[in-house]
Amino acid sequence: MTRFNHTRGPLIVGIGGTTRAGSSTERALRIALSGAESAGARTHLFGGAFLHSLPHYAPESATLTREQRELIEAVREADAVIIATPGYHGGVSGLVKNALDTLEALRTDERPYLDGRAVGCIVTAYGWQATGSVLGSLRSIIHALRGWPTPLGAGINTLETRFETEDTCSDPKAAEQLATVGTQAATFALAFGARRPSAPAPLDEQENAAARPLRAANVLSLAN
Ligand SMILES: Cc1cc2nc3c(=O)[nH]c(=O)nc-3n(C[C@H](O)[C@H](O)[C@H](O)COP(=O)(O)O)c2cc1C
Repeated sequence: MTRFNHTRGPLIVGIGGTTRAGSSTERALRIALSGAESAGARTHLFGGAFLHSLPHYAPESATLTREQRELIEAVREADAVIIATPGYHGGVSGLVKNALDTLEALRTDERPYLDGRAVGCIVTAYGWQATGSVLGSLRSIIHALRGWPTPLGAGINTLETRFETEDTCSDPKAAEQLATVGTQAATFALAFGARRPSAPAPLDEQENAAARPLRAANVLSLAN
């Protein structure tokens, strides 16, 4: 299991993309992660292909796959997170939402879910209407997971903005917005990362948290 070293700057975990080769959502996320790196962070990307390898989250299941454990452990160790989703039928894509539902395993952590962490939000869609409405939905999901959405969220209209290579974008303003999402996440992590409590036992020593009884301290999160 991957263990992350926090002595070399905050760790920013990126989650997002689609199953499509050359996914613009994943490429947008890469630009944001580069922004975080230039602000002094280390990054780890879970792109569309990885998210596609996750099974549908099942709360009643007491066992987790290797990929589910990898995602959960990385987010547990993360000092900030950046999430990038396409707008699909007016909402967050099922692929990305499934990854976020998988984070239910963090429910009983000392820092439950995304507690205390900045979360950069990126939405791509074929038009401004869905970029705006889905960005609002994504931020609501982050609030439910106790995360702190960064002040700037990036909405990218992929009818106008092209991502021809892994780390280039046809619109310099869009690229700047994406990089700013990354630097804001990193800046927050650098400012508040010192408050991070000690890491809990690795997942292979734990059962699926969802199969455990609720702790009263964590019940509030379910009201979201
Ligand atoms: C199943 C599906 C549903 C979509 N629904 C919407 C939508 O409701 N509104 C919109 O503006 N674009 C919609 N789109 C377009 C995608 O949001 C857009 O193509 C996105 O940038 C895809 O990202 P990708 O390049 O990472 O695959 C949809 C695309 C698909 C495949």
